[in-house]
Amino acid sequence: MAKITTATLLKMKQQGEKISTITAYDASFAKLFDQAGIHAILIGDSLGMVLQGQNDTLPVSIGDMAYHTGCVARGVEETLIIADMPFMTYATTEQAYSNAAKLMQAGASMVKMEGGLWLVDTIKGLVERGIPVCGHLGLTPQSVNVFGGFKVQGRQEDKALEMVEHAKALEAAGVQLIVLECIPEGLGKAISEAVSIPTIGIGAGKHTDGQILVMHDALGISCSYMPKFSRNFLVDTGDIKKAIELYIEEVSNGNFPGPDHIFK
Ligand code: KIV
Repeated sequence: MAKITTATLLKMKQQGEKISTITAYDASFAKLFDQAGIHAILIGDSLGMVLQGQNDTLPVSIGDMAYHTGCVARGVEETLIIADMPFMTYATTEQAYSNAAKLMQAGASMVKMEGGLWLVDTIKGLVERGIPVCGHLGLTPQSVNVFGGFKVQGRQEDKALEMVEHAKALEAAGVQLIVLECIPEGLGKAISEAVSIPTIGIGAGKHTDGQILVMHDALGISCSYMPKFSRNFLVDTGDIKKAIELYIEEVSNGNFPGPDHIFK
């Protein structure tokens, strides 16, 4: 297979093909996921929770992210590599430039940032300077203290309408992908129809253009708990590569997420 790029993912959306993505943090898992045919790997700042045992993602540093991005990049041949910008590393546009450069130089092909309208100028500047950006709306974990916990977002009509507007603004600013986390399925559908770039859902229902899972959840090895929106694919296969192949197949044929994995 040829190297997957943002153009590949856009074409998949246009052709109605579902995109499968997963997190990874090291070369060995990244290589297996790449060989299984995953379309994109995210080095998520979820590593704070699943690798470091933190209660949330806030303690993760840009050094942590650059280190794990380098590890993943060395394991991957075809998959698109997206790296998370951690908490407060893009609070100003200048900070975003210098920290995004660190992740790109470590091997990322795209950086992800959490937030809506307030990020528009930063995104424009990054894209103008050659750095592709993935947006992230809904339950953005770096704002857990503002939300008062890990809670489903966008249930009230005004908040849902606002999120659609934020997604459109991110697209206009130049993002090429948007992650939608823990929102009602209907809102996931509305946002996916409102933008022409691919949307990748996690707890956002089956109508997004693709899905993402934290690898520890998809393999049933989370040290804390299994989120409602996730599924253990290892239990059905007993083999990590086969588990990821099953995940890709279930996303592709519309079986995952199922009715038990969605929020209303
Ligand atoms: O950090 C992460 O792993 C993420 C995904 C849950 C989307 O942002």
